[in-house]
Amino acid sequence: MSKQPFAHIAKRMADIEPFHVMDLLAVAKQLEAQGREIVHMEIGEPDFATPPAIIYAAQKALEKGYTHYTPAVGIAILREKIAEHYFSRFNTTVSPEQIIITPGASGALMLALGVLINPGDKVLMSDPGYPCNRHFVRLFEGQAVGIAVDATTQYQLTADMLAKQRYEDAVAVMLASPSNPTGTILSTTELAALNQYADKTSTHLLVDEIYQGLVYDSHIESVAGKFDNAFVINSFSKYFCMTGWRLGWLVVPQAYCREVDKLAQNIFLAPPTLAQYAALVAFETETTEILDAQREILKQRRDFLLSAIQALGFKVSVKPQGAFYLYADCSDLTDDSFVFCYSLLKEAGVAITPGKDFGSNQAAHYVRFAYTTSMDKLQLGVERIKAYLNSHF
Ligand SMILES: Cc1ncc(COP(=O)(O)O)c(C=O)c1O
Repeated sequence: MSKQPFAHIAKRMADIEPFHVMDLLAVAKQLEAQGREIVHMEIGEPDFATPPAIIYAAQKALEKGYTHYTPAVGIAILREKIAEHYFSRFNTTVSPEQIIITPGASGALMLALGVLINPGDKVLMSDPGYPCNRHFVRLFEGQAVGIAVDATTQYQLTADMLAKQRYEDAVAVMLASPSNPTGTILSTTELAALNQYADKTSTHLLVDEIYQGLVYDSHIESVAGKFDNAFVINSFSKYFCMTGWRLGWLVVPQAYCREVDKLAQNIFLAPPTLAQYAALVAFETETTEILDAQREILKQRRDFLLSAIQALGFKVSVKPQGAFYLYADCSDLTDDSFVFCYSLLKEAGVAITPGKDFGSNQAAHYVRFAYTTSMDKLQLGVERIKAYLNSHF
């Protein structure tokens, strides 16, 4: 007779929340299975297909039998291509040795935090911010310190704010530009001030540049090759439309190359081989022309959706300059954005993400719209929200 099933779930799991948007997506899928048509504005993934040249390169790699492990830090030729990209696009010199290929930006975040955090170490981050960050920190037994940000600083941390909060003992500060969920960017001046603060307090900056290719109104620079002590996170997921390929990269300060390599060997063994060979053509003009044209489409969607939701009573106090999100204050429409999102999904067939996913700072007053669906669908979504609000107010 076997014993009763048992489970020794680690205590940390109590602090690791689900990605609420995934639960919402599951409900949306159930409704679709029942024949409902849902307008998806919840998921942070481009609706565009991976460019054909990348797919073709993967097919060729498969034919050549490139199905084995690669070095844990990725194939040398891709690391060199990324270094060339930094030079040609941003005029900065990054040694390929400092470029670690990872399973998505998620893998990059995990490696960076894994080599930095001792139990109890503080890691500073904005609230609202990308949800997984605080959970990664918890996984490594660190202490995620969410700092409330609002429109006055474009929902970004500033050097001033950090100096006032007196967290000199933190090991790292996590930044994202453009950010998820707000789409706002950090100016070159503010980044320089943050870097000064970080140097002064011996804190590492972790700068997430995953949405770097998706900036609409201004030029954005990279921190890679500029700040000696910063870790830079990037990915092929968003601008390159390769979410499912699970490929990203991390730029590490020189002193961490060997440590990150060791950790990558242990956690992942290697990043996905086919995806790496496919990504070799990601920076070719043939591909970037397609991706840049798609960025224009995203910009048009942003402009449409921003004014449409403002007309409906949502408040967006900072015009997002990048990514594909609008972080909207819905406090004139509801006191509980979580309940609102589920009600909107069930009654109106429109899926958006509750603020709760991004932290606890005024989360009940915010929702995130992702304009990762066609203009027709966005228009339909807006019509449905309008009808929903008319029937409730
Ligand atoms: C700010 C940010 N960082 C990291 C990630 C993880 O992306 P990846 O698919 O490259 O693992 C995401 C995904 O949404 C994100 O928004």
